[in-house]
Amino acid sequence: MTRTKAIVFDLYGTLYDVHSVVQQCEAFYPGRGMQLSVMWRQKQLEYTWLRSLMGQYISFEQATHDALVYSCRHLKLDLDTATCDTLCKAYLNLSAYPEVPDALQRLNDMGLPLAILSNGSDFSIQSVVTSSGLQDNFSHLLSVERVGVFKPDPRVYTLACQALELTADEILFVSSNAWDASGARHFGFNVCWINRHDNTFDELGATPHVVVAGLDELPALIDAGRC
Ligand code: LAC
Repeated sequence: MTRTKAIVFDLYGTLYDVHSVVQQCEAFYPGRGMQLSVMWRQKQLEYTWLRSLMGQYISFEQATHDALVYSCRHLKLDLDTATCDTLCKAYLNLSAYPEVPDALQRLNDMGLPLAILSNGSDFSIQSVVTSSGLQDNFSHLLSVERVGVFKPDPRVYTLACQALELTADEILFVSSNAWDASGARHFGFNVCWINRHDNTFDELGATPHVVVAGLDELPALIDAGRC
C-alpha cells in the first residue's frame, strides 16, 4: 500500500449524520420520525443509483425531495408543501458526528490535504459544511455535479485524482457507506470503512483496507503506517 498523501471523505453518513433529521421528522409525525428517516435515506440512495443507470442526472436535492415524497406516500403521512420544504432544508443543516471536528483537526495537523467527494451538489455540500463550521478543514469540496452521474460510478472518483493531482493509490478514501467504500476500492483508492454501528460490509467483490469504529481512530493508523 502506498503511503497516504491526501484523504478524501464521503459526506452523508460518514462525516455527517443523515439521521439528525429524525427530530424534525418526529415533530411533524410523532412516533414515526425514525421510520421516515430510514426509508427516506434508503430511497434517496436508490434514486441516485437508478437515475445514474437511466442516464437521467438530477441534483441530490431533487433526489432527496423525491425520496421524501415517496416515503411519505408509502407510510401514509400527509406531506404539505411547507413540511416538505422544512424537511428538505433540514438536510442542508445536518450535524457532524461528535468525534469528527477533533479528528479532522488532528488529521490536518499531520499535514494531509483533506477533501470531500460527495453525491451532493456544490450547493448542498457547501451548505452542510459551512453550517457546521467545518469548512476550513478542507482543501477541496468536490461534487458529482461536474460529471453528472452519482457514486459509485468511477467517473466520480476520478474527480478526486484530478483535483488533488494524485494517483488513486496515493489517496485514502474514507466512507461509512459500504457500497461507496466498495466502489472506491474497485476504483483503486486505499479505503477506510467507518463502521460506527456494527454493520455488515457489502458483498460487492471488494474489502476495505482498514475498518474503524469512528474517525477518531484514523490518525493513529496513519501514524503507524497502516494506511
Ligand atoms: C455522499 C453520500 C451518498 O456521497 O453518502 O455524500
